[in-house]
Amino acid sequence: MKILVVGGAGYVGSHAARILDRAGHEVWVYDNLCYGHRSAVPKGRLIEGSLLDGAKLTELMQAKQIEAVMHFAAYAYVGESVTDPSKYYGNNIGGSISLLDAMVAAGVKRIVFSSTTATYGVPEQIPITEQEKQQPINPYGFTKLVIEQALADYARAYDLGYAALRYFNAAGASPDGDLGEDHDPETHLIPLVLQVALGQREQISIFGDDYPTPDGTCIRDYIHIDDLGTAHLKALDLLEPGQSLQLNLGTGRGASVQEVIDACRRVTGHPIPAVISARREGDPPELVADSSLAQRVLDWQPQYNDIESIVATAWNWHRSHPNGYED
Ligand code: UFG
Repeated sequence: MKILVVGGAGYVGSHAARILDRAGHEVWVYDNLCYGHRSAVPKGRLIEGSLLDGAKLTELMQAKQIEAVMHFAAYAYVGESVTDPSKYYGNNIGGSISLLDAMVAAGVKRIVFSSTTATYGVPEQIPITEQEKQQPINPYGFTKLVIEQALADYARAYDLGYAALRYFNAAGASPDGDLGEDHDPETHLIPLVLQVALGQREQISIFGDDYPTPDGTCIRDYIHIDDLGTAHLKALDLLEPGQSLQLNLGTGRGASVQEVIDACRRVTGHPIPAVISARREGDPPELVADSSLAQRVLDWQPQYNDIESIVATAWNWHRSHPNGYED
């Protein structure tokens, strides 16, 4: 298929674009490079532009005869979404609607959308199934939930086929070391811990050790970035106009902050000093996926099933790119 990967210069989008390309699809990346990286996109495949430029998107879809869209373009800093909701509503909702309208205008019928565990808020049950109530506790999660709803409405009205893939904690890097995680500012646990191992930070702060978990630190379900990409590829293969999928993408295994730091110590051989600091506002104690629906429906299995193997790919990237993409 001819696929437009919107936000394909970012962390998740760039890895997925490469997996689509390797599976034989024709991939075009659309990105404003606000957070994305030019060098994460294969030469000649990047079109720079804004999500809000609907006319440009429609023209592009028509010119390239696009058959499906993958939509990764979103602001994703939970804390910032609380202090600057306008930025999140404008881009994550306004931009996504502009993209959907362009698809309708160009007659493109398939879309895979990056949704998130943040749409669940603080879940009542662990592991989290797709039946869990979606009650986001921050504007970021809310913007993603609004677009899930918009997709359902657009699907019904305009015969779109869509998949809303709810990621747990995307982590790791492509094993060949060419693509990896490079956020500015960086707020995610694994890259921050590895920056300590590289000597770029003195220590890692553990945000709270008094949670109701076995070691008192928060538990997350870290899923390898290429396992996410493969799930996108498989979801695309299944999509038909008028049909929808809502799927959790995780491994079903949780790792605590302490366990992640310990894994980083084993992988890097560095002592990685850690200090306990205050809880970060809005962090649920435990988020672990029940991904059995995705495994069944997509015929998909995460290939990276333990935190150490995920961290090893991240370390490979950070060690060889201590300053990220440098672009
Ligand atoms: N953490 C620390 N110290 C740090 C950074 C993080 O202890 O310096 C902890 C956090 O408190 C959390 C865990 O490490 O318990 C993971 O934190 P991340 O920031 O790496 O990831 P989050 O779980 O906060 O965020 C992820 C996605 C978001 C999504 C969110 C939904 O990155 O996009 O899950 O809860 F919105």
